[in-house]
Amino acid sequence: MRVAKVAIAGVGGVGRATAMLLLSRSARYLRLYRTEVRLVAVCGSRSGLCDPRGIEPGQLDTLEPGLSGPEFMTASGADILIEAGPSDFRTGRPGLDYIRSALADGRDAIVVSKGALVHSGRELRDLTRISGANLKISGATAGALPTIDLVEHSLLGGTVLRLEGILNATTNYLLDAMTARGIGFDEALQEAQAGGFAESDPRNDTEGWDTASKLLILANFGLGLDLTMDDLVVQGIQSVTGEQIAALRTENLVPKLIGSLVRESGGVRAEVGIRTYSPADPLALVRGKNKAVRIITDAMGETVAIGSGTEPLATSAAALKDLEHILAARSAKGP
Ligand code: HSE
Repeated sequence: MRVAKVAIAGVGGVGRATAMLLLSRSARYLRLYRTEVRLVAVCGSRSGLCDPRGIEPGQLDTLEPGLSGPEFMTASGADILIEAGPSDFRTGRPGLDYIRSALADGRDAIVVSKGALVHSGRELRDLTRISGANLKISGATAGALPTIDLVEHSLLGGTVLRLEGILNATTNYLLDAMTARGIGFDEALQEAQAGGFAESDPRNDTEGWDTASKLLILANFGLGLDLTMDDLVVQGIQSVTGEQIAALRTENLVPKLIGSLVRESGGVRAEVGIRTYSPADPLALVRGKNKAVRIITDAMGETVAIGSGTEPLATSAAALKDLEHILAARSAKGP
């Protein structure tokens, strides 16, 4: 019987949901991977909890002040970090310190927040190469929608020539509500905030930064590129008016906020902005808070995935899908 000791940094909606889902799946991990998965530590920015015997669900409401930070997580003895804290792509923090510490020590990391991956992607990829640790990022690349798995696994038989996606639920919800129901931007945004999928600062969604972050992470971690935010042209939907939406409707065009990446001779063009589609295009059919990605490869044609889920469960489940990939790889190595 193997033991996997997990620590979760971040006790907001996704962190807590991940902890609860992980604890509810212990029998599944035993059965499928012959592994006792033990949650040994959780922490937020100022408080936390450590129990080497394994934290129980009821303990998650009894965090102690002062138990926080990368050193606390290291001292917990965890060999897998799930990082689900706040995301800031301009500094990478606070996630960067946790992820850097785990990877440098050869501990596997499952990353949900995008900031560190955008800010210090090259350093983190180098650390995984040097230490041999796994770095899994499904939760940071559109969560339940398969994106990084498609390029890393399913479409590995080809070279990605083009990728375009509706990578942000909030902006799709807004544009869809304005188009289909004729409501205004502010009213649609209030609905997205009530739905729990808009960022706490919704300008990250509406100005295109969340889409840009996911696109950049896919480009660098999935396609082996080395882009920075300065390489992307980013335009959001914050200035879209009801009149513009009505005009597109009369032309039978459906607007979407798209992150796109095209390989060109001599480089790559990556941008975020509104594109319009005819109603029959698969991307035009992506309604509400659903997301989608279309990938075109040289040898495997065109693939479209559409989906979402209810947050925070969907992103938590995506992070725990990454955990299962790690457990499966450990099982395959033998005792
Ligand atoms: N605010 C994001 C979205 C969710 O609307 O898709 C986190 O990435």
